[in-house]
Amino acid sequence: MNSDVKRNILLTPGPATTTDSVKRSQVVPDICPREAEFGVVMEHISSELTRLVADPDHYRAVLFGGSGTAAVESMISSVPGGEAMVIVNNGAYGRRMCEIAAVYGIDFLEFRSPFDEAIDLDELERCIRSSGRRISHLAVVHHETTTGLLNRVKEIGELCRRYHIDLMVDAISSFAAVPMDMKEMNISFLASSSNKNLQGMPGVSFVIAEKSKLENLKDRKPRSYYLNLYAQYRYFAEHAQMRFTPPVQTLYALKQAIRELKQEGTAKRYERYTASWKTLISGLNRLGLTYIVPEEHHAKLITSIREPDADFDFQSMHDFFYSKGIMIYPGKLEGLKTFRVANIGDITAKDIEVFLEWLEEYLHGVQANRRKVESRGNRSEE
Ligand SMILES: Cc1ncc(COP(=O)(O)O)c(C=O)c1O
Repeated sequence: MNSDVKRNILLTPGPATTTDSVKRSQVVPDICPREAEFGVVMEHISSELTRLVADPDHYRAVLFGGSGTAAVESMISSVPGGEAMVIVNNGAYGRRMCEIAAVYGIDFLEFRSPFDEAIDLDELERCIRSSGRRISHLAVVHHETTTGLLNRVKEIGELCRRYHIDLMVDAISSFAAVPMDMKEMNISFLASSSNKNLQGMPGVSFVIAEKSKLENLKDRKPRSYYLNLYAQYRYFAEHAQMRFTPPVQTLYALKQAIRELKQEGTAKRYERYTASWKTLISGLNRLGLTYIVPEEHHAKLITSIREPDADFDFQSMHDFFYSKGIMIYPGKLEGLKTFRVANIGDITAKDIEVFLEWLEEYLHGVQANRRKVESRGNRSEE
């Protein structure tokens, strides 16, 4: 497709590279989002998003204007009642859920787990049993975007089933790539957003939940006004509108992005992402670079790579790539020097090959410069 919009390659964990057709779908006649016509658009988006992971007759995607954190915050602040919850923290996004729970004064236990290893389910069970409290909810990130670790949500769902705990999942960076079935995985509430594997524009986030679980929130005392999950669900059910001004153009883009996801198929999309990841990993191996999470626990969507040496300057590498229209991301791990490369969005293994060629050139350039400086230093000492 001919495009007058420059194509950048975003190797960032979202917003991701979008197709021209998604970009163009935002150019629509102005419309008041309270018109019935726009309600139909949102209704369609809500059921299609639900259909990706659950049966829309029994589950519902509640849409919000806001980034992914808005959906996570809505879920954490709206769902728990007076009993305690467990939050798994094995990366920055698990930690964020703890921070959100703390802000709302929710009674929670933090279950810390190593950032580069599978969650120890026996330990998690011990945490639940030894708490001495009734645990009503457990929250976990599906794909920890900090490292690329794919958490064992299905097994955690089984554990929750045994203890009658409702499972809440931050699936912001796994939704629409990693296959998921809420019922089978025993996920009661799931949060995600428009701009990662969905390949839409940023600005819409959503919580998917069983309708009966949403109805059960009816008598909860609201902790938040804007992010009140029940109120947002109820208002949409009654009026086919969001409670507050929706991001109109982002929703049109999301509608188009969903159409393209259905054309490609979620499984095929994950295959495309996985092919890009394999290309990335073989290139990293060739260049002598190492990454944090072992393959068996890797979601294959974003890779946290160790900086090659102590003198490595991420900003200079970032600027080098930026000048080529390629965007990479800094690390987010405390005490470990890493940078991140994602392989999601409208890109293919060919784009990753281009990235690797430039990476090789960049690293060789850095080494050559260092040798020059060292030999100058040696000469001046002679
Ligand atoms: C797992 C996870 N949770 C939450 C977020 C926060 O999303 P946002 O930055 O859109 O608020 C992100 C963003 O990368 C994420 O990867």
